[in-house]
Amino acid sequence: SPGATKVFRDPRFAKLEESDVQHFQEIVGDKGVIVDSSELEVANTDWMNKYHGQSQLLLRPQTTQQVAEILKFCNSRCLAVVPQGGNTGLVGGSVPVFDEIILNLGAMKSILSFDEVSGILVCEAGCILENLDTFVGTKGFTMPLDLGAKGSCQIGGNVSTNAGGLRLLRYGSLHGNVLGLEVVLANGTVVDMLGTLRKDNTGYDLKQLFIGGEGTLGVVTKVSILTPPKLASTNVAFLACEDYESCQNALKEAKKQLGEILSAFEFIDRPALDMALCHLEGTRDPLPSKHNFYLLVETTGSNEAHDKEKLDAFLEAGMELGYFVDGTVAQDSTQAGSFWEIREGISEALVKAGAVYKYDLSVPIKSFYRIVEDLRAQLGNAAVVVAYGHLGDGNVHLNVSAPKYDEQLLAKIEPFVYEWTAACKGSVSAEHGLGFMKPHALHYSKSEEAIHLMEGFKKLLDPKGILNPYKVLPACAATSTCF
Ligand code: FAD
Ligand code: MLT
Ligand code: ZN
Repeated sequence: SPGATKVFRDPRFAKLEESDVQHFQEIVGDKGVIVDSSELEVANTDWMNKYHGQSQLLLRPQTTQQVAEILKFCNSRCLAVVPQGGNTGLVGGSVPVFDEIILNLGAMKSILSFDEVSGILVCEAGCILENLDTFVGTKGFTMPLDLGAKGSCQIGGNVSTNAGGLRLLRYGSLHGNVLGLEVVLANGTVVDMLGTLRKDNTGYDLKQLFIGGEGTLGVVTKVSILTPPKLASTNVAFLACEDYESCQNALKEAKKQLGEILSAFEFIDRPALDMALCHLEGTRDPLPSKHNFYLLVETTGSNEAHDKEKLDAFLEAGMELGYFVDGTVAQDSTQAGSFWEIREGISEALVKAGAVYKYDLSVPIKSFYRIVEDLRAQLGNAAVVVAYGHLGDGNVHLNVSAPKYDEQLLAKIEPFVYEWTAACKGSVSAEHGLGFMKPHALHYSKSEEAIHLMEGFKKLLDPKGILNPYKVLPACAATSTCF
């Protein structure tokens, strides 16, 4: 796969035999065993059409017990497995590298309980995020995370990638919102950590290891999550700035003026907006003239008049201070939706435009756009560099768009981007994870000792290394600990 770590199939993994397939049929029935080539092709290919596996078997368990029996058998036979949710991951983590069995959680989609006072939801891992939001919406609540992939990603996949998204600024990360998990380990042991308590200091908080574990430590089968109340009033403004300094100032001002009602502060540069306008049907520029930078600022609160007053004060101050040069506030939810469509659709537009190299970086806010300019200077005319992201969280999505994947182009991007990030003590993966794309880059953001500790956890929980091999940990570290 383009831009991925070069690895060879680990010969210690067994090859799938007909008798294995028969055994899986006994566990999950005919319906849960998929060998159809067109279904396999979809499951073997990632969302960007960049990473391709060659698995011959897709399993769709319906219960935790079935997941446990599958893994126990795979572990005893040394068959490698890739856990898969909605397959919307952006680092090649959700598809096989070689012939790993695909274990898709999509059939485990029941809501198990919802507490209408606390807002605590307990559900199976295969529930689609948008369906959960609709369900809790009927009870007056909302999910604490929102992302462009909400229509297909699963809560188990969100937990396993520790997905951030568009509301992290307001509700915080899944490390805080997930209250409990049920997880199946590589040897089939079911670990019940499915608490529904806000506070529980009885020893080590083990569930945290699986939040962002990317399917390498266990398979998440159930999730308990805290949902905040759905508030009555939402406003969305689409603002234009001429320089990056103004975007930073606007963020400072938004925090000061909007305080607790600020629910998103998103950044789009002009090339990213052009990408969306060019490739997404039905989109149009929200503003009459062109500018260098755009901000999508959302407020969510409980009192419409009060929220409007705060937003107006912020917009007035921003205009007066010269932070924004133009802007518009959505007049209704349709218009608000059209602003969000642009922001959330940039990833899709980039895939439509051709090959894309994606970098998802956490950097100090002051350096957020400097890396974009430096990469543009480094690449010259070789490719188009577009940037967008969660400015409020210091998370820039730096994307390089080219007609096709090209090793020479990649050599100009990497290690340049990773070295730049490490030099400002940033993270080479703010929210997408490491998957198959970035194990070799882990050392830019983690010390040797920390990587060693990660290897230790992997060895403890999955001694044969059958869960999502070739992902997350660097190749030498992963193989030295297996078997
Ligand atoms: P998959 O893609 O299927 O899997 C992702 C990883 O989790 C893989 O390593 C897989 O092995 C593992 N996994 C999946 N399910 C389980 C399970 N039950 N148990 C154990 N391991 C499992 N991410 C953000 O953080 N913020 C964003 O704003 C954001 N926006 C996105 C927008 C678009 C349009 C797209 C396509 C992706 C976006 N993403 C974003 C990427 C993000 O990681 C995923 O969308 C989502 O969290 C993955 O969920 P999924 O169910 O599709 O998981
Ligand atoms: C986003 O914020 O749009 C997502 O993380 C997806 C992407 O980076 O393309
Ligand atoms: Zn993002």
